Amino acid sequence: MASKESKPKTTNNSGFTGKMGYVMAAAASAVGLGNIWRFPYLCAKYGGGIFLVIYLVLVFTFGYALLMSETAIGRMTRKSPIGAFKSFSNTKASAFGGWINALVPFIICPYYAVIGGWVVKYLVGYCTGETQAMAADGYFGGYISSNLQPELFFIIFVLLTMVVILGGVVNGVEKVSRIMMPILIVLAVIVSIYSCTRPGAVEGIKYMFIPNIHNFSMMTIVSAMGQMFYSLSLAMGIMITYGSYVDKNQDLEDSTTKIEFFDTLIAILAGLMIIPAVFAFSGGDPDTLNAGPSLMFITIPKVLVSMGFGTPAGILFFLLVFLAALTSNISLTETCVGTLSDELGWSRRKSTLVFGVYAVLLGSLASLGYGVLGDLKIIGMQVLDFLDFISNSVMMPIAALAICILVVRNIGLKTMADEFERNSAFKRKPVYNFSMKYLAPFALVIILISSVLSAFGIISI
Ligand code: PHE
Repeated sequence: MASKESKPKTTNNSGFTGKMGYVMAAAASAVGLGNIWRFPYLCAKYGGGIFLVIYLVLVFTFGYALLMSETAIGRMTRKSPIGAFKSFSNTKASAFGGWINALVPFIICPYYAVIGGWVVKYLVGYCTGETQAMAADGYFGGYISSNLQPELFFIIFVLLTMVVILGGVVNGVEKVSRIMMPILIVLAVIVSIYSCTRPGAVEGIKYMFIPNIHNFSMMTIVSAMGQMFYSLSLAMGIMITYGSYVDKNQDLEDSTTKIEFFDTLIAILAGLMIIPAVFAFSGGDPDTLNAGPSLMFITIPKVLVSMGFGTPAGILFFLLVFLAALTSNISLTETCVGTLSDELGWSRRKSTLVFGVYAVLLGSLASLGYGVLGDLKIIGMQVLDFLDFISNSVMMPIAALAICILVVRNIGLKTMADEFERNSAFKRKPVYNFSMKYLAPFALVIILISSVLSAFGIISI
C-alpha cells in the first residue's frame, strides 16, 4: 500500500505549499521532451493542422477530464495509484487498473533518458563550438549509431537523475526550473519568430495550422491521443500521486486549466520553432517531415547556425531543454521508486539503486538499437520506437480506461462532482461527464484495437 514514503521529494511533508506549489510541480512534470521533442515530430508526421486540431480537442475534453480525475482521486485517497485503486474497489480488475497505471513509467523512463542523453550531447557540442558540424546533413544519424558516446551520455543522464534524487536536492532543481520555465518561453518565442520569418516558412505555418483532411489517417487520432497522455503526464499514476499532496481547499478546475494551457502553449511554440523551419530549410521535404524522433535534432541546429549567434543560442536552448527533460525524468523516476518501496517494502535508497540499474539495462537496448543492436526489432520496430509504442499506444489507453471505469462505476460521477464543487464552480461539468462516460471509453477502445491491429500488420491505419 502507499505510504508517506512514496511522496515525491518535490513536495514537503505537509503537501504542496499553496496553490502555485502544485501547479508548478505538475507543470514541471508535464513540460518536458514531450512538448519540445515529441509534439513537433508527431505533428509534422501525422498531418500538421489536422493533428493539431484533434490534439487540442482531446486536451480540452478528455485530457481535462482525466487530469481532474487523477488529481481528485489522489486527493480523496491520499495514496499513490495502486493504493488509490484499492481504496475504492477490491476486485482483481481494479487492482490490475492500479498496477497498469503504476507500470507505465517503468517503460517510459529508460528510453526518456536515452533522449535526455542526446540532449546532453548537443548541449556539450554547443559548449565546445561544434555548431557547424551539428548542423550538417546526416550528423544526427551518424551520431546515434555510434554506440559508445550515446550510451555514455545516456548513462550520465540516468546518473544525474539519481544523484538529484538520492541527494535530496529535488527541491533545488524544481526551484531552478521555475526560473528556467519563463526563460524557456522567451527563448522559444524568439527562435520561433526567427523560424517563421525565413523564406518559405509560410508553407510550414500553413501546414501546421490549416487542417487538411487529406492528411488524416487513423494514426492521427492514435498518435494525438498518445501524445496527450504523454505530454500531460496522464495515465501513469503521476498525477494521482501528486494529487495526494494537494490541499483540500484548492480549486482543482482552475489548476487543471492552468496546467493544460501552459503545457499546450509550450508544445505549440516548439512546433513553431521546428515545423516552419523544415519548410524553410528543406522545402517541406516529406522525408524530413517524417523524420520522427530525430526531427528536433536535425532542424534546430540548422536554424541555429543560420541565426548568426548560433553557439550561445544553442547553449541556452539545449540547457533549457535539458532542464525540462531532467525535471520530467525526476518525476518519472520518483514514481517508480515510490512504487518499488511501497510494494516491496524496500528502502528509498535500495529502490533508487535497483531502478537505476534496471533503467540502464533497458535504456541501453534502446540506445544501442540505433547501432550494434540495429537488427534487434520487435514487431518490426526499433527498441526505442517499440517502448514508445507499447507505453503510449497500448498501456496508456488501458490505464486511462481503468481510471474511467473506476470513476464511473466505483466512485460515481456524483461523488466526483462533490469533490470538485468543494471549492470550484465546476464550470465544465458537462464536458467532464460526457468525456468520462462516453467519449473516453469509446475512443480508448477504438484506439487500442486499431493500434494493436496495425502494429501486427493486420490493418493499415
Ligand atoms: N510529460 C512529460 C513530457 O512531456 C513526460 C513525462 C511523462 C514526465 C510522465 C513525467 C511523467 O515530457
